[in-house]
Amino acid sequence: MRPLTAHIDLDALRHNYRQACRYAPDARAMAVLKANAYGHGSLECARALRDLAPAMAVACLKEGQALRDTGIACPIVLLEGFFEADELDEIITGGYWSVLHTHWQVEALLDRLERWPHHHVTVLVKCDSGMHRLGFAPEEVSAICRRLRSHPGVEQTLLMTHFATADTPDSALLASQLDTINTLRRELDLPGCFANSPATLSVPAARHDWVRPGVMLYGVNPLAPEQMLHGEIDRALKPVMTLESRIIAIRELAAGEPIGYGARHVTGRPTRVGVVACGYGDGYDRHAREGTPVLVQGQRAMIAGRVSMDMLTVDITGIPDADIGSRVTLWGRDASGAMLDVSEVASWCNTIAYTLLTGILPRVPRRYHYNDAPDDSSDTDALS
Ligand SMILES: Cc1ncc(COP(=O)(O)O)c(C=O)c1O
Repeated sequence: MRPLTAHIDLDALRHNYRQACRYAPDARAMAVLKANAYGHGSLECARALRDLAPAMAVACLKEGQALRDTGIACPIVLLEGFFEADELDEIITGGYWSVLHTHWQVEALLDRLERWPHHHVTVLVKCDSGMHRLGFAPEEVSAICRRLRSHPGVEQTLLMTHFATADTPDSALLASQLDTINTLRRELDLPGCFANSPATLSVPAARHDWVRPGVMLYGVNPLAPEQMLHGEIDRALKPVMTLESRIIAIRELAAGEPIGYGARHVTGRPTRVGVVACGYGDGYDRHAREGTPVLVQGQRAMIAGRVSMDMLTVDITGIPDADIGSRVTLWGRDASGAMLDVSEVASWCNTIAYTLLTGILPRVPRRYHYNDAPDDSSDTDALS
């Protein structure tokens, strides 16, 4: 077997979910499981959270159906709403809570509800409070909510927005978004659903009836490093994914020898190189710069040379007992307890942890570790 595996610690996922609840004790937390639970496997993550989370959120109906098919019974929120009116029969009858962010969706929903006189839906009306991605202009929201609330088929209307800069809580844009959305919430007297992970953790004025933590569930600290709470959050969260492989070959190179495609790295001294089974064909970022850290048997080492499709190369000169078969942790918690934060790796790749985690491809087997299980057995394998 090729030794590359993404180990998924479902106990850590549950721990992180509980942290979201601890920081927002008066709100209910919908677990954001879109994009295959940020690369971790949405079915397994949903099963692990089903006794804790009163709702789960995905991007679209197809992602929601996959959760329903695995027995998830709680409300499933569709964060982008629906793309075609034909999705509505299933949304209305299947316990999905759709976001409504555009006028044709409101018309299509109200029209389709006529066919289902005995069904009631919950909807989230999305206000564009300043991010300028999805949502109605603030001045449109009252009329839309009034129409929805007066319809007998609409059981519950939530007010929703999304923040552009919640990771920097002192930003002027966040203050302005909060002012807009909290004013509307007071005027309309509707339950609010505003906070992503950083807002859940550090913006009390954004936590109302519901919060929507995503990346923090997977153990990624969503706050900018200069934020006061950053260290506390680092300690509060546990990494969920550990990407682990092994050294499959060793090269002993003299000074002045190139390594890998484009000969980007030329050895400056006699160098021992470990070839690791992990590459961009697995989703590891090809933009990893010289010096990107990995752990070899729990000790830090650095990538030397370009990442190729199935392999990458690491300078192991300083780790003399490293050999063929030695364990290499690309990020996460090594078996020895040593940690390599996926956000640190991301910064070496000029990206963010979200893209590294969601980028791990189906080719990489996920192995699930699970002690604190509500029911299912522990330690299962899946190719997701
Ligand atoms: C609408 C919406 N809500 C919540 C989230 C969760 O955000 P985060 O992963 O930063 O917690 C996202 C993520 O992209 C989102 O698009």
